[in-house]
Amino acid sequence: MNTVDCIKSRRSIRRFKPDSVKHSLIEEIVSAASFSPSWKNTQITRYIAIEDPSLLGKIADDFTPSYNSDIIRQTPVLIAVTYIKGRCGFERDGSYTTEKKDRWQMFDAGVACQTFCLAAHEYGLGTVIMGVFDESGISSLLDIPKERELAALIALGYPDIEPSAPKRKTVEDLLQYR
Ligand SMILES: Cc1cc2nc3c(=O)[nH]c(=O)nc-3n(C[C@H](O)[C@H](O)[C@H](O)COP(=O)(O)O)c2cc1C
Repeated sequence: MNTVDCIKSRRSIRRFKPDSVKHSLIEEIVSAASFSPSWKNTQITRYIAIEDPSLLGKIADDFTPSYNSDIIRQTPVLIAVTYIKGRCGFERDGSYTTEKKDRWQMFDAGVACQTFCLAAHEYGLGTVIMGVFDESGISSLLDIPKERELAALIALGYPDIEPSAPKRKTVEDLLQYR
């Protein structure tokens, strides 16, 4: 698949086949995502691949709204995307480099998420990024250390649906020249 086809044909997948995803494939995807650009090449993004049905069940039951728990109940793998705090967007003395303060951390995690999802798509896997969850509940369930923060969840598995693309804004809406 060429890059533009990959970008345009990736869809958020919310229903998966029960088939598991081989660890070697998850590792290929993380390796591809490691080539994402990052602030001064700080590479702060870290991934936790959750396969344990009891953890998945607890996240679905206790820490996500129904529209996300329905996805999590049938995904073979849930990726918790985390980042190491205090590096991206910061000077060595701990001060912020720019007016955006610490927001570059989420920016870098977002870049990594999209790269992860595109690589997964190339390998025939479906993904959906989820931003609505109980962050403190999941962080303590997964023992995420205090130096890290949970940015997003990504369901990962073999797609059981082929959704059509939600409507996109036109280039005229999106772009201006000055
Ligand atoms: C930061 C972010 C948070 C999102 N959160 C959720 C979510 O909590 N639940 C969900 O089902 N989809 C979520 N999505 C997926 C979007 O709804 C989806 O990308 C959008 O509707 C466009 O569809 P497409 O990905 O198929 O192009 C999220 C996407 C992003 C980038």
